[in-house]
Amino acid sequence: MNLILFGAPGAGKGTQAKLISKNYGIPQISTGDMLREAVRLQTDLGKQAESIMAAGQLVPDHLMLRLIRERITKPDCANGLILDGFPRTIPQAEDLARLMNELNLPPFVCLEISVPEETIINRLSSRKTCSQCGADYNPAINPAPADMKCTVCGGRIVTRPDDNEETVKKRLEVFKRQTGPVKDYYAKNGNFYSVDGNKPVNEVYESIKKILDALFKS
Ligand code: AP5
Repeated sequence: MNLILFGAPGAGKGTQAKLISKNYGIPQISTGDMLREAVRLQTDLGKQAESIMAAGQLVPDHLMLRLIRERITKPDCANGLILDGFPRTIPQAEDLARLMNELNLPPFVCLEISVPEETIINRLSSRKTCSQCGADYNPAINPAPADMKCTVCGGRIVTRPDDNEETVKKRLEVFKRQTGPVKDYYAKNGNFYSVDGNKPVNEVYESIKKILDALFKS
């Protein structure tokens, strides 16, 4: 199963990707998490990406393509994978299709998690994140402890630099302008599905599971 989770910032891609990964036994590949790790470690990529991410803009395609090619060619992706946050532009989608062709792997199915903008702004402006392991804390689901120490790794819980309201609005604008066309790219090939993401996490997961089981039943 090669699956792209598509959706605006805060739509719930990461949350659902973790559930799918656990239940279907395929890796979640989150370009946002990979970039944040690169920033944390201050690698060359991290240094280039840091200010771009903090401004809510997209990291240039050539850097993303190199990152994703390296990751997808690892052996754990041979039986399927979930892309969370990639592709975000048409050149990324086109290069991904070329790569799958080169590797002789089945094309991706794109599944959108659709959530209204108001909900997104609420979710992201109230989210806290562990600065070490990236664990997610949100008042609606899993509130941060009073001492702001991560319950998973003991790291410091912070607000992600791109989760302030102004940058969230910028991310939404970038999503509409640069990532919107990716939806049409997959819809045109008949490889596009959509679920309502403005529901509790388990209900969104059930809708996704129905689609995946119908598409990939063996
Ligand atoms: P990335 O990390 O991919 O961020 P994003 O997509 O903008 O937003 P999130 O990951 O925060 O949203 P999500 O949809 O995963 O939602 P989540 O499950 O976390 O990218 C960050 C930056 O990296 C980009 O802006 C860009 O600069 C760069 N980048 C990454 N990929 C790139 C690429 N391919 N090309 C170029 N640049 C790239 O949920 C959000 C919150 O809502 C959480 O707190 C969660 O608990 C909560 N929540 C989730 N589901 C529900 C629900 N059903 N009900 C209530 N709350 C919920």
